[in-house]
Amino acid sequence: SSSASCDYHGFLYCLSVHIPPPTNLSRILYSPESPDYSTVLLSSIRNLRFVTPSRQKPYFIVTPTNISHIQASVICGRKHGLPIRVRSGGHDYEGLSYRSEDGRPFIIVDLANIRSVDVDPTKATAWVQAGATLGELYYTIAENSRQLGFPAGICPTVGVGGHLTGGGFGTMLRKYGLAADNILDAILIDANGEVLNKDTMGEDLFWAIRGGGAASFGIVVSWKIKLVPVPPKVTVFTISRNLAQGAVDLVTKWQSIAPKLHENLFIRIVITKEAKEGGEMEVVASFNSLFLGQCEELLQLMEKSFFELRMKREDCKEMSWIQSVLYFAFYTNRIPLEDLLDRGTKPERFFKAKSDFVQEPVPSFLWGRIWGRFLEDEAGVLIMDPYGGTMNNFSDSATPFPHRQGNLYNLQYFVEWRENGTVPYNKHMKWVRKVYKEMSPYVSHNPRAAYMNYRDLDLGKNELDGNVTSYSKAKVWGLRYFKSNFERLAFIKGRVDPGDFFRNEQSIPPLLPQE
Ligand code: FDA
Repeated sequence: SSSASCDYHGFLYCLSVHIPPPTNLSRILYSPESPDYSTVLLSSIRNLRFVTPSRQKPYFIVTPTNISHIQASVICGRKHGLPIRVRSGGHDYEGLSYRSEDGRPFIIVDLANIRSVDVDPTKATAWVQAGATLGELYYTIAENSRQLGFPAGICPTVGVGGHLTGGGFGTMLRKYGLAADNILDAILIDANGEVLNKDTMGEDLFWAIRGGGAASFGIVVSWKIKLVPVPPKVTVFTISRNLAQGAVDLVTKWQSIAPKLHENLFIRIVITKEAKEGGEMEVVASFNSLFLGQCEELLQLMEKSFFELRMKREDCKEMSWIQSVLYFAFYTNRIPLEDLLDRGTKPERFFKAKSDFVQEPVPSFLWGRIWGRFLEDEAGVLIMDPYGGTMNNFSDSATPFPHRQGNLYNLQYFVEWRENGTVPYNKHMKWVRKVYKEMSPYVSHNPRAAYMNYRDLDLGKNELDGNVTSYSKAKVWGLRYFKSNFERLAFIKGRVDPGDFFRNEQSIPPLLPQE
């Protein structure tokens, strides 16, 4: 169904003018008639929930190979009424980088081919293009220097484009903060198709795209990032405890200990059902740690701060930082570093996630009850990432990401499954929402905060007010991700994209200054 305002042929003609030969347009433009359309569309979809045939599909997918192709897509899309979804790694939890729920025709600009990584080891900086994955970034850093790393997420197939613009955290966040805290410069294409950098976009817009989601403001082409020092040897461990081994008490204690540990020490918890040796399933809490130092020092720290976990020398695994990246991603480092370059090409599972920030320890009786919930659904996972350390040194408005001092940890509720059909779908969706509800008295409130990179449309979806997104309606979800930074983001949006070209189900609405 084509909308009156969308001019399909006009868009194609416009692109052919803006992208002249020798570029062969048919190599970077896919319509539903193109034989490769489905392959390109599916190439970075991670969630089978969004692979149903009935969904509205993009009119075109553009796969730019240089910056002028991105500019042309913006200029022509805007001129001919075709809004854009930008995709880098495709990991958006609600698929907003490649699908739309608003019924309007749209195109995808897929940056998978815009993905060079240039490391300058002497200056400890890098330029990384949006379509690169975290794995490609980590790999290239390690190729250039074993003394440098970058503090970003754990999963290597996550795209740099979406991840850095929403915050981005992993095993080094207590020492170096978010990925977004380590951005030095950016190349962004705005709603006019202009190419901007840090100086030409101005302080406000540069602030907004480092945590506020660039998809509301433009298309990020590349980031200049600050690399951080890593020691020649780091230590990792994974210690699993079941109910009989005191898991509930340990999880309860961890909540006040982990956010106060030395900033070189990160211990997350993953609670999930695992197969015992005999094949029987049991619920376990895995304490999964990266220490930026060696085993001897770690043992002393653990003895002093968290002896209850009874960590032993045998638990230590010393390795290089880049090996620890493999260890966290694949639970083994006995595989080639090149596995970090695997972008993964087909969606394999359905999933749904929700998130919370916890500011007071959740009482142990509730953990006991949550333990029981895992018996109702074998697909559930809880992931607890400790904050504190450097995260406390940022004010809540230093970046749009406001979850700093006072937050003990981020809690992610996750459910993943492989069986198709509405019965499993309903079961798993119900489970994750139920556990989330059960936690509500014990987590942050007014607002109950959430992490933007763990996108959750249950929190609310945009509605229009005239021709643009309604600010007052958007507050429902916006205050949860951004708290009091939401208003500033909306004013910046009002200045740089007042017509709301870059719009999605959870984009920042434009707010115009009162006359
Ligand atoms: P995708 O391409 O889907 O984009 C996400 C959003 O950003 C969309 O709104 C999109 O339009 C926009 N966008 C993408 N590229 C853009 C660009 N160049 N310019 C402007 N807007 C752009 N998070 C975390 O902090 N730590 C972690 O360890 C993990 N681990 C993890 C594992 C797995 C398996 C998944 C699926 C997700 C995570 N995440 C995570 C969450 C992840 O940070 C989040 O989904 C990112 O937005 C993904 O970025 P992509 O570029 O892959 O997504």
